[in-house]
Amino acid sequence: MKKPSYFIEHLCIYDTKPRDTMWNFLKWAHSIPQYYWGEDVLISEDENVGADYTFLACASKFTIQLEAPMPRLQFQYERDWFETHPRGINHICYLVDNALNSYNQLKEAGCEFAQHYTEFPPYNGFVAKDLEGVWIEIMEYKMPETFKVPYIEQRYHSFEKLRMFGPVVLCKDLGAQEKFYQEVLGFKTAFKNVRDNHGVIYMIDKRYNVDNNNIALQLKTPCIAPEKKFFEKYGPYISTISYLSGDVEFAYKRALRADFESISAPAPDELTGAMTAWLREPNGNLIEIREEWKAD
Ligand SMILES: [Fe+2]
Repeated sequence: MKKPSYFIEHLCIYDTKPRDTMWNFLKWAHSIPQYYWGEDVLISEDENVGADYTFLACASKFTIQLEAPMPRLQFQYERDWFETHPRGINHICYLVDNALNSYNQLKEAGCEFAQHYTEFPPYNGFVAKDLEGVWIEIMEYKMPETFKVPYIEQRYHSFEKLRMFGPVVLCKDLGAQEKFYQEVLGFKTAFKNVRDNHGVIYMIDKRYNVDNNNIALQLKTPCIAPEKKFFEKYGPYISTISYLSGDVEFAYKRALRADFESISAPAPDELTGAMTAWLREPNGNLIEIREEWKAD
């Protein structure tokens, strides 16, 4: 079997107040390319699985999906998750051409699953766990022209010169996770600064392109105080949404004006050397803004 290719697509935030969070991001520099809301938006009529999804985009094909709890309309694994984590980043989604092939491949690779392979009218998919238990949703769109978010250009559309860059996954064993994403998902290491299992690795998928798909997955050990706190409590998890900016100082200031809380003002980061700032969006999500980056 030919190894499937995996493409970074969105991260999903489970949120009890998605409208508030939506507004926080809109005040900063985002837009809403798609919005599914209501009990009539059924993903699967058989299981009565519906949706309350708000998609947020910022000049990148990598997007945020806000998902509200709608117990009657959600999958069991989602209901279980909401019981213990009322809000937070729940999974990263990767697109594939054939989800069943991917399911078999990940099973063979020894992955556990939060949800097994299922076929729905708009997509086929499942939710697996990576080497350290972080949830990875795999989707094959069957209705790409009508389901999910319209095509988003990688082009600044704000004064902040801001673009969504990718998710940050905090790891226990950076080397082992790097190997997993390389060997199982086919990603390439594009930047790495790791010493004694402390550091950061940028990983890119096969669709990476500096001009229209400048997206990377960051594997990292906790660096800022809020990451350390939750890592101690929960272990490996998806901690932060990373952005690139042509003007970090300005993007940071505009985030403050949108009521984001400063964690760390723009300064050279010890791991990357790049000008970087961290903030917390008013509903709790961590944001990293770093200066422009591209893979060699
Ligand atoms: Fe998702």
